[in-house]
Amino acid sequence: MNLLKPVAPDRLPELLKCMPKAELHIHIEGSLEPEMIFALAQRNGLAIPYSSVDELRRAYAFTNLQSFLDIYYAGASVLLKEQDFYDMARAYLQKAAADKVLHTELFFDPQTHTVRGVSMETVVGGLHRACVDAQAELGISASLIMCFLRHLSEEDAFETLEQALPFRDQIIGIGLDSGEVGNPPEKFARVFARSRELGFHLVAHAGEEGPPAYVWTALDVLKVERIDHGVQSSRDAALMQRLARDRIPLTVCPLSNLKLCVVPELAAHNLRQLLDAGLVATVNSDDPTYFGGYLNDNFTQTFAALGLDAQHAYTLARNSFEASFIDESAKRRYIDQLNETFASFQ
Ligand code: HPA
Ligand code: ZN
Repeated sequence: MNLLKPVAPDRLPELLKCMPKAELHIHIEGSLEPEMIFALAQRNGLAIPYSSVDELRRAYAFTNLQSFLDIYYAGASVLLKEQDFYDMARAYLQKAAADKVLHTELFFDPQTHTVRGVSMETVVGGLHRACVDAQAELGISASLIMCFLRHLSEEDAFETLEQALPFRDQIIGIGLDSGEVGNPPEKFARVFARSRELGFHLVAHAGEEGPPAYVWTALDVLKVERIDHGVQSSRDAALMQRLARDRIPLTVCPLSNLKLCVVPELAAHNLRQLLDAGLVATVNSDDPTYFGGYLNDNFTQTFAALGLDAQHAYTLARNSFEASFIDESAKRRYIDQLNETFASFQ
């Protein structure tokens, strides 16, 4: 939108909070609050190796992606019943609605659960029911993207895809997450080709810690429609041109990058550079309880650190709807709402 009214810097946090937006990079297991981990452990009669919520929270000091993943998978091990998955997703969707998220696409990691004997039906059933109820009760639309764990084999991913087929209509897309370095996208070439034939949308984490080469192969081998993270792309000028030319969205997660030491400080984040290069960048929370903030925390802290303004806010919110997997008429409706918010913001 042109002709944006100037917004005083001290009013910017308010605008960031009230502007309609979509969240496209949130691992639902990364929204489990320590309090809920303890409550679910108790409900399910499970022991956890922490004596208190505070002790668990103190363990959230990470040096890289793997140091986080070890704690993240341990936290997810308290999820056993359909109701557990429902409660977790419900709590996130309530927070998202309060952050003026109108639409969200939730990642989930079925292999983290099926390996413990929890069925795909339990996982997808609880998450999907929370999405349906959230639409009716909170007015937020939510859909599910199933991620393969890239530290496991492609054969394992194929088995997971097979297990998901009875729930095909409850899953909109396929993603790829977990430890990136040493597990390049091309390891999953065949299972992504099969997922594509089945009509799933495709995304993959690439260029979080891994090199720009992984972003290239996510695009050219896996044929993904969005890149999750992708912040390492700025090291490769030809890749930046490709992402801009093809309008491939990047789901950037600033507080995640800070907490996993991808950047030394938020002020050193390349979000502004990505936007200046014409990329369809979006802001997301990744694993909000582990990285110290939900979506609006990511917006407000990043804007403060980088000195971004109302025009950036508009672009990022608009990008979030354009990058989403909702139909064109819903996109139009959400963007109209965004335009109204900016037009009436005093
Ligand atoms: N990167 C890779 N895998 C993940 C992440 C992430 O940031 N969060 C949860 N699983
Ligand atoms: Zn992620």
